[in-house]
Amino acid sequence: MRYSIAVMPGDGTGPEVINEGLKVLDAAAARAGFSYELTHYDFGGARYLRTGETLPDSAISELGAHDAILLGAIGHPEVKPGVLELGILLKARFALDLYINLRPVKLFPGVETPIKDKGPKEIDFVVVRENTEGLYASTGGFLKKGTPDEIAVQDSINTRKGVERCIRYAYDYALRDDRHNQLTLVGKTNVLTFAWDLWWRAFNEVGDADYPKVRREYAHVDATCMWFVKNPEWFDVIVTDNMFGDIITDLGAMIQGGMGVAAGGNLHPGKIGMFEPIGGSAPKYTGQNVINPLAAIGAVQMMLDYLGERDAAGWVEKGIINAVSKMQSLNAGHMGMGTDEVGDLVAKFVANKG
Ligand code: IPM
Ligand code: MN
Repeated sequence: MRYSIAVMPGDGTGPEVINEGLKVLDAAAARAGFSYELTHYDFGGARYLRTGETLPDSAISELGAHDAILLGAIGHPEVKPGVLELGILLKARFALDLYINLRPVKLFPGVETPIKDKGPKEIDFVVVRENTEGLYASTGGFLKKGTPDEIAVQDSINTRKGVERCIRYAYDYALRDDRHNQLTLVGKTNVLTFAWDLWWRAFNEVGDADYPKVRREYAHVDATCMWFVKNPEWFDVIVTDNMFGDIITDLGAMIQGGMGVAAGGNLHPGKIGMFEPIGGSAPKYTGQNVINPLAAIGAVQMMLDYLGERDAAGWVEKGIINAVSKMQSLNAGHMGMGTDEVGDLVAKFVANKG
């Protein structure tokens, strides 16, 4: 197999962590026997400040022609908040119709969690977040803006098609051999009675018709936050809408050990996926070789899995676990080794058939 991969290192420490991810990709390819072609794109804050361009339409079609996109980090201290998030990240999600945001929450052995008495056995679930609708669809508007009678409306868009394709992906995921065939719908059926009525019906109709082997559960989103902390072992695969998914996956990232290890994928299954460490650009650490690249390496792992290179993804995961066991801490500046050494460690582990 030969894959075409677009690389967008982005801002801040993005390029450093992507370098390490690419080292690991190289080692995985050599061992698994696939090849790939990289195309680099310099979209991000620096380019925006230079040219005023975020992610032009012409780039969307170019990016969309790849099998996958590997993204470092978007965010620049001199750019007003929102410009790059909307102009690059959300634009790519919408324009490429990346309707799934996949966020594994997995505590690796040796990683510290703030949750007392819980370990890798208890913290291992996946959140499937709808990624193109809900409150993120950006419909609504102002009435009497700037007056004391001002009204702001922000609609939550839930289409049967959009909800159903997301739910189907989550059911399929629950049937994977590395999952336990349980799918929890996380919503707010008790209050948001239009949106969650549609989700509830789609969830049950699709489950009844096509997924008899998947055990169905339901939890309200507020209670879910409580269970993440109290009983994370209750979850296997979760499916939820865009806004709820955004919120609960930050909580998920914390219980799996923080931003140093958390990765995510934005997918249009069967077409293209964009993978990223979710920690941001961490500008104050830029160029110091102190940032933790494991989340970016985790993004490469997810990309390999998405491409169907599941053995290679498994090696990378083992390589990450091995690196964790040798690092002093997962926090930037306290790892006991440099960014490049962490990448070398994982790449070597993958290459040496560890
Ligand atoms: C995420 C981020 C984005 C989101 C922001 C940066 C637009 O928080 O990927 O979870 O809200 O989806
Ligand atoms: Mn978020």
